Amino acid sequence: MRVTVVGSGFVGASTAMRVAQKGLADEVVMVDIIEDLPQGLALDMRESAPIEGFEPNVRGTNDYADTAGSDLVVITAGLPRQPGMSRMDLLEKNAGIIRDVVGKVAGHSPNAILIVVTNPLDEMTFLASEVSGFSRERVMGMAGVLDSSRLRYFISEELSVSPSRAEAMTLGSHGESMVPLPRPATVEGKPLTELVDRAALERLYQRTRDAGAEIVALLKKGSAYYAPSAARRSAASSSSIRSSSTISSTPRRPSLAGTPT
Ligand SMILES: NC(=O)c1ccc[n+]([C@@H]2O[C@H](COP(=O)([O-])OP(=O)(O)OC[C@H]3O[C@@H](n4cnc5c(N)ncnc54)[C@H](O)[C@@H]3O)[C@@H](O)[C@H]2O)c1
Repeated sequence: MRVTVVGSGFVGASTAMRVAQKGLADEVVMVDIIEDLPQGLALDMRESAPIEGFEPNVRGTNDYADTAGSDLVVITAGLPRQPGMSRMDLLEKNAGIIRDVVGKVAGHSPNAILIVVTNPLDEMTFLASEVSGFSRERVMGMAGVLDSSRLRYFISEELSVSPSRAEAMTLGSHGESMVPLPRPATVEGKPLTELVDRAALERLYQRTRDAGAEIVALLKKGSAYYAPSAARRSAASSSSIRSSSTISSTPRRPSLAGTPT
């Protein structure tokens, strides 16, 4: 399987690294508009292979011809939020970038599955679907895995248990209209609703909705990438034929753009 990651910034580079280290792809190709950036990052990653024990099958390029025939393309190209910005503030600039990169990706990899990461997520996923012309099953916006992981972590922190013992799921948009589901939220199999009071439940849900902004405010420059890249790696393994786990992905058509499909 060939995986391409478009955009070699914080999210793109850490996603490529996680996919390579987990051995999820025969080849990982990183692309960026900045000359030599993906090449330098890929070389640095390959040099870590002897220590970390993975196959050094990552390469960087500025030429989409090198991505030809990709099975999976993760699109992270675009500006991240700065403190005080909403994801929608990125709309205009990132729409131009998505139009540019998706056109090139689709031309070189007509059978690929696209996982869109660039914000504002729902709008960029819809745009990627329009520009590529791919069937809806092959264009996903990925934040549900990330939002669910954040909620699981906050629950584990609240109850002082390992995150592996907390289960939770969010649906809907990546932002204020996100829907944390009460029923699948459990700790060691016990319903969360029996372990915390209503006020704590609401606090955990709201912190999850605001989790991206919390990190942007702390970093003061750019947005989160460790948890986002872990979510992308998880989505990549679920999208490959090597795994059949359930992933929570964003619907193709954002509610802002019209009738949901
Ligand atoms: N969906 C999510 O859950 C989620 C989580 C975190 C970040 N994000 C979003 O992901 C995007 C990337 O975040 P980041 O922290 O990696 O930003 P970053 O600034 O570190 O990296 C972005 C990269 O995109 C590249 N780029 C810009 N235009 C390009 C083009 N036309 N072709 C190829 N590459 C191009 C830049 O050169 C840069 O290297 C942002 O829009 C951010 O908001 C989404």
